[in-house]
Amino acid sequence: MPEPAPKIVLGVTGSIAAYKAAELARGMQKRNWDVWVVMTACAAQYVGPLTFRALTDHPVPCGFFAEREPETYSHLDLSAGAAAMVVAPCSAQTLARLAHGFADDVLSCTALALAAPLLVAPAMNTRMWNHPAVQENLATLKRRGALVVAPGSGELACGDVGAGRLAELGEILQAVAQAIGES
Ligand SMILES: Cc1cc2nc3c(=O)[nH]c(=O)nc-3n(C[C@H](O)[C@H](O)[C@H](O)COP(=O)(O)O)c2cc1C
Repeated sequence: MPEPAPKIVLGVTGSIAAYKAAELARGMQKRNWDVWVVMTACAAQYVGPLTFRALTDHPVPCGFFAEREPETYSHLDLSAGAAAMVVAPCSAQTLARLAHGFADDVLSCTALALAAPLLVAPAMNTRMWNHPAVQENLATLKRRGALVVAPGSGELACGDVGAGRLAELGEILQAVAQAIGES
């Protein structure tokens, strides 16, 4: 009997880099991972849940509401049986939400109920990235065992140059592979 594909939860948040998450989901599928996407309500302003639904063939909960389907899950079901969850891109807002244990949408509930490695790949403007509040939230998550795929430096979508670009997708895939013991 072949091993079942590892279930990977991909959290997508309200960053201008959200469109890159579609390519990331494809990269995960190429590694034969079973990808389940969960989005913040804000992320849906940048890329539609339908994109991820079509790519993954799974319902995509967004904000606090899941699509009602026969296989519908509650705010806890996404985390069940997950091999890992990766939030990419992870906004400053969601980083704070996760660091403080908020449970005000499906993404944050999933992270709280997770019994598997949590990875975050932050993406934001350099000035936001350098703010002590963001760095302290990051340190809190790291202290609790979260794995951080640090952003790269370069030209940002806003035109600024500096740290804050979403890490290269290959780097994120490699970090997830390592977290689930596949590398
Ligand atoms: C055009 C635009 C681009 C943005 N890009 C980012 C970003 O890359 N990273 C970030 O942390 N916030 C960014 N923001 C702000 C977030 O969208 C905002 O903080 C939001 O509340 C994030 O919510 P969420 O974490 O629930 O998705 C951007 C806002 C706008 C209007």
